Amino acid sequence: MAGSPVSTHDPAAGEGAAPASPSPDQQRQMEQAYAQMKRKMAMQALGKRIKHKIMVLSGKGGVGKSTVSTGLALSLAQQGHNVGILDIDITGPNVPKMMGLSGKRLHVEEGRIHPAVGHNGVKVISMAFLLDDDDTPVVWRGPIKLGAIQQFIGDVEWGDLDYLVIDFPPGTSDEPLTVAQSLPDIDGMVIVTTPQDVALLDSRKSIGFAESLKVPVLGVVENMSGYTLSGRAPAGTELQIAGPGGRMHNITADASGTFSVTLDLFKQGGGKSTAEEFNVPFLGALPFDPGFVRGGDDGVHRIVSDPEGPSAQAFAQVVAAIQDRIAIGGSSSLEIV
Ligand SMILES: Nc1ncnc2c1ncn2[C@@H]1O[C@H](COP(=O)(O)OP(=O)(O)OP(=O)(O)O)[C@@H](O)[C@H]1O
Ligand SMILES: [Mg+2]
Repeated sequence: MAGSPVSTHDPAAGEGAAPASPSPDQQRQMEQAYAQMKRKMAMQALGKRIKHKIMVLSGKGGVGKSTVSTGLALSLAQQGHNVGILDIDITGPNVPKMMGLSGKRLHVEEGRIHPAVGHNGVKVISMAFLLDDDDTPVVWRGPIKLGAIQQFIGDVEWGDLDYLVIDFPPGTSDEPLTVAQSLPDIDGMVIVTTPQDVALLDSRKSIGFAESLKVPVLGVVENMSGYTLSGRAPAGTELQIAGPGGRMHNITADASGTFSVTLDLFKQGGGKSTAEEFNVPFLGALPFDPGFVRGGDDGVHRIVSDPEGPSAQAFAQVVAAIQDRIAIGGSSSLEIV
């Protein structure tokens, strides 16, 4: 260890003399180096113990990444898989709320962090668990934030998982880069968009960003895609329903006296055309469902409150598309640094 800042050998002491004890500074450096090495090994081991790792990103904020991340995790768990979710959003972490884990704190044992367990047995790690209260934002400078992310990857006792879903803050920032460099064999990125032009434009940036990270794009999900209005009227009744922008929809109640119409609250098909334009898969559309908003408030995700409903079915289709894509796709070619 000659020349090393943490060397404890004192040449002046001569052969046979007891080595000088390290200074507190040296001791701290040694401990840090040891913790870093252990973390690196743990991160490499995660590659084997977690079969599939999926990053969920969007270029624009508020398009539903956390709703989609939690929905994917819950839907995969519904299929009987062991699932974890890692909430990397330090400034606005809301995954615990959506998973019914508000106010939870993490359990630490022998230096290892144990995830909280939410709906459907999904293991949850979130920066929110470090906050004193839900309303205090964390303001961490870059290196501290990135160190915390590495710690949340390397020091967590996930156990054996079939899937780890990773939720990010909006945009193409340092967080996805740190994760892509720390966690081996990432299956790929799911890009969430809404049908509006501005969100689509940002999702195009995300596709370019994925390429620069050398993480495969699993595909694009269009969230808040359309709102389905249904009701009852005497069989054969012809109805006119005014949609957003005054567009009229002519529908007829069926023989059983029910009708339904899907209204495009924003636009339609933008996610699909973006996916086609960039030659990446379109993973499916998720409906606009006010139940997601309620679920975010009362802590019971829509997939849990209505596991057979249209939104849960739409999620199951997206999950199937992701699984197909993972089955044929490769994994990240980035090396651990
Ligand atoms: N399909 C949907 N239908 C109705 N509301 C939705 C849908 N998806 C998300 N929402 C609502 O939109 C809001 C934003 O969703 P969410 O927090 O998941 O977005 P986000 O992209 O993670 O946001 P941020 O960029 O702040 O992390 C929430 O109130 C959520 O309940
Ligand atoms: Mg979010």
